[in-house]
Amino acid sequence: MRVMLTERLRLEPVSALNADQLWQILQAADLRSYQDLPGLRLTAFVESVARRPLHLGSGQHGRYEWLVVLRESGENAGWISLRIPEREPGAGEVGYTLLSEFRGRGYATEAVSALLDEAFAVAHLQRVCAYCVPQNLASVAVLERLGFTRDITLPRGATVGGQPVDVTSHVLEARDWRDRPYRTLTSAEGKKK
Ligand SMILES: CC(C)(COP(=O)(O)OP(=O)(O)OC[C@H]1O[C@@H](n2cnc3c(N)ncnc32)[C@H](O)[C@@H]1OP(=O)(O)O)[C@@H](O)C(=O)NCCC(=O)NCCS
Repeated sequence: MRVMLTERLRLEPVSALNADQLWQILQAADLRSYQDLPGLRLTAFVESVARRPLHLGSGQHGRYEWLVVLRESGENAGWISLRIPEREPGAGEVGYTLLSEFRGRGYATEAVSALLDEAFAVAHLQRVCAYCVPQNLASVAVLERLGFTRDITLPRGATVGGQPVDVTSHVLEARDWRDRPYRTLTSAEGKKK
């Protein structure tokens, strides 16, 4: 995994060294309205992160996360994730969350755009999907801005707040990831700045 730079964001790989920062973000009150998040204590959370792979490349599988950091202020705004299942290594699932004070400014769209670059160009995935509670309009809007198309509804496909909920899947094929509205700087380009 590498640091990704966009116009306004630095996306920092989450490892055991900085997992406490992600854990801190996870404690925010309103992140669980539409998604299930781990309720682990800090030590257990850091241990679980330490078991994840560090290398993202062709044929890899596992869970990868990045902190979303504002380049200007250095504040942590949220995180993005990519999960590649072992049984289907050509496909990945993205996730994204911003703390409430950082929403409405396009940071999620910008961060996920960079993640899609990484997923297709570095991990060489053929397809990326996202699962979403249809009532989560802000999340659906992020996916639509990035060119995902709505696929199927999975009845009781997830659990939120201990209750089963229907979720929709949204899909983006590698071949459709063109003419991107948000330009991502590669880490090499970013270092030149
Ligand atoms: C889902 C979530 C990340 C979306 O955040 P968001 O701020 O709405 O998404 P973006 O960062 O892409 O910002 C889009 C908004 O910024 C505005 N915006 C401002 N400047 C922008 C820019 N430069 N580029 C794009 N959008 C911009 C857009 O108009 C849009 O506003 P609108 O919602 O009023 O139309 C956020 O609601 C969240 O963290 N929710 C809780 C966790 C969650 O549900 N995660 C998803 C689980 S599936």
